[in-house]
Amino acid sequence: MRLSHKVALITGASRGIGRAIATRFAAEGAKVALSDRDQEALRQTAADIAEQGGQALAIEADVQLKSDVDRMVVEVLRRWGRIDILVNNAGINRTAPFLEITEEDWDLHMAINLKGTFLVSQRVCREMVKQGHGGSVIQISSVNGLAAEADQVHYNASKGGINLLAMSMALEMAEHDIRVNALCPGFIETRLTKPLIDNPPAIAEYLKTIPMKRVGQPEDVAAAALFMASDESRYMTGHCMVVDGGQLIKLS
Ligand SMILES: NC(=O)c1ccc[n+]([C@@H]2O[C@H](COP(=O)([O-])OP(=O)(O)OC[C@H]3O[C@@H](n4cnc5c(N)ncnc54)[C@H](O)[C@@H]3O)[C@@H](O)[C@H]2O)c1
Repeated sequence: MRLSHKVALITGASRGIGRAIATRFAAEGAKVALSDRDQEALRQTAADIAEQGGQALAIEADVQLKSDVDRMVVEVLRRWGRIDILVNNAGINRTAPFLEITEEDWDLHMAINLKGTFLVSQRVCREMVKQGHGGSVIQISSVNGLAAEADQVHYNASKGGINLLAMSMALEMAEHDIRVNALCPGFIETRLTKPLIDNPPAIAEYLKTIPMKRVGQPEDVAAAALFMASDESRYMTGHCMVVDGGQLIKLS
């Protein structure tokens, strides 16, 4: 097991990519603290992990709120006394054409995707520095943080910000042996992408943009997250790892 004796905190962990990462980490021996603002789904996911023999702690928290972030970290420390791995996964994506994006929607994307990632990262890294045995921080970004997609200006900007946040944090955290990397998934089958997946002509058209000709699964991202969390990636920091079936390399 690759994560024995490790404690991992994963935000937005009740479903989709976050749930797959929490489930995989638990199967690799980590104690997993799952946080989300959807309490019911969160408890179900924690119960499912426990049923499979994993150790899971569910903490309801909204990553936009500093008070929630503080409470979340204190709860993990009270239960397990340390945090070795952080996955900032909580995020939203509401599409709208650039000329129609409201100020409220812009602020919401920045507050959850970018500020939330900053708040949780800073709070947890302060603990990791105090603990003195390093750590791994994984920011769930997107291919949209590396290339532009129409009708997602606010989402693209928030994810581009996350990539630079990861690189900038990596620079300052390296001396503490805390590695900070970004994972950039392509099109993954979750609640976020369900409307397109449930539309056969639209998804057939969309798949033409993906050289591997299939939609990614949350488990594909979880496998890359496991590599980033484990000592296998011990000399990697400030990297943006793309998991997209080749979508980003395709010019036309
Ligand atoms: N699905 C994709 O194709 C795809 C591609 C690239 C990147 N991503 C990124 O992966 C991450 C997970 O996305 P997903 O597809 O699994 O979506 P999802 O909607 O299935 O899951 C997101 C989770 O985050 C939680 N969340 C949202 N706002 C929150 C907040 N303020 N505080 C705490 N929790 C909050 C939600 O309750 C939900 O459980 C997101 O950051 C998303 O941008 C997804």
